[in-house]
Amino acid sequence: MGLKTLLGIKKYKWKRTIKKFVSRMEVLFPKYQWNDFYQVAEHFWRRGMSSLSERAFLFRLSRDLQDNAKIVEIGSWIGESTCILASGLKGTQAKMYAIDTFKGDASDYSARDRYKKRFSKLRTDNTKDIFDRNITHFNLKLRVTAIAADSLTAAKGFCESPNSIDLLFIDGDHSETATRNDIEAWLLYVKRGGIVIFHDFTSNHGVPQAIWWAIKRSYFSDLVGVYGTTIAFRVY
Ligand SMILES: C[S@@+](CC[C@H](N)C(=O)[O-])C[C@H]1O[C@@H](n2cnc3c(N)ncnc32)[C@H](O)[C@@H]1O
Repeated sequence: MGLKTLLGIKKYKWKRTIKKFVSRMEVLFPKYQWNDFYQVAEHFWRRGMSSLSERAFLFRLSRDLQDNAKIVEIGSWIGESTCILASGLKGTQAKMYAIDTFKGDASDYSARDRYKKRFSKLRTDNTKDIFDRNITHFNLKLRVTAIAADSLTAAKGFCESPNSIDLLFIDGDHSETATRNDIEAWLLYVKRGGIVIFHDFTSNHGVPQAIWWAIKRSYFSDLVGVYGTTIAFRVY
């Protein structure tokens, strides 16, 4: 069997998997427009960084926000989570800021090694062009502003005022120190009652320890939900 045929079969199977997943979501959560979700999930075939249930959780949290809400994402890579979150937003003034160096930064050596392999597959050493193409593909250019910078530098010069962000998605450097720094630098921009989501909340990263540190400081008032390695809290 040729490579093209094999890829065709795999893509067909992937589409079938998403369709089945979306049918289940339509029954469980009928108020959402799952076709928007389907389009993004299908587009990122073989390049996604998390499971469908985690993606669907992001989509629902974004769609549940008020009209013209604002989202900040730390760590965008090629833009899959950006497209999921941004396509969930409603209102012509809704805004999403996607912050990434686009260079696959990570404190952890093995994570850096994984990015190196991903870059080699993508035949680039910077994902900004791919990110831009994906944003354009979904017609999200007016809604999404990419900030190509280190997250702490971006926080210092951020254009929005404190307490103005409805949802913060932290998915950048997963070491405990970097995650804590992201919390410290960005939480002040999140509204009281807003949402903060962490990805890769697993024991092979420092994310759980950073979350525990934030819980002890009473930064969160409620647990919004957990899907796979994605966890969301409501901010005090
Ligand atoms: C796990 S990927 C993000 C995946 C993306 N959220 C998704 O789900 O499709 C992590 C990203 O964080 C970026 N990153 C790591 N450390 C960073 C930092 N200090 N500032 C900005 N971006 C950073 C990396 O370049 C990488 O693209």
